[in-house]
Amino acid sequence: MERPSRPASSSPIPAGIRSDEAFRIALIGMPGSGKSTIGKAASARLGLAYVDVDQEIEQRIGSSVRSFFERHGEPAFRDLETEVLRDLLAGRPCLIATGGGAVLREENRHVLRSRALCVYLEASSRLLWSRLRRDRRRPLLQFEDAEQRLRAMTAERAPLYRQTAPIVIETDGFSFNGVVDELVARVTAKSDQ
Ligand code: S3P
Repeated sequence: MERPSRPASSSPIPAGIRSDEAFRIALIGMPGSGKSTIGKAASARLGLAYVDVDQEIEQRIGSSVRSFFERHGEPAFRDLETEVLRDLLAGRPCLIATGGGAVLREENRHVLRSRALCVYLEASSRLLWSRLRRDRRRPLLQFEDAEQRLRAMTAERAPLYRQTAPIVIETDGFSFNGVVDELVARVTAKSDQ
């Protein structure tokens, strides 16, 4: 006898998204580009669990990313970031908000590309600065010349984000809901191909 197909409502993955056990979406982009806020809203719409790499790191180390950076330095943070990314990208289907520097290492770019559908949330450094100028949480922006650093980081990383993500979503000039709608539509279309 033919097995009855599972009712659509029992699947965590809505119609339109391929029902691949390993379906994961990873949002990449600069700090302040909306990876967490957009990611939470989109994951709810897509019926995927939401995971934040920085939050996962903070749970593992029992302190904030900023104080970890101050005590142990950036290379130690990057090692942890690679470890957490690898674990999350080997786990259950989910939507992952990565840290802005996740694309700096080739091994991270490789694991992101091969184990998730990556989406780059692109934002101009002007928009990013308008959101981050009062930020006290991000260790790489706690400097007098933070605005210049942000601009330089955006220029340095843009090609890395682009080479990692098959989907690029421009966010300047678009509303929060507009970006979420675009993300859901693009991911759904891509996974149908
Ligand atoms: C970083 C971005 C942060 C966090 C850490 C390093 C970066 O994440 O991982 O402070 O190198 O751009 P967000 O992109 O969520 O701010």
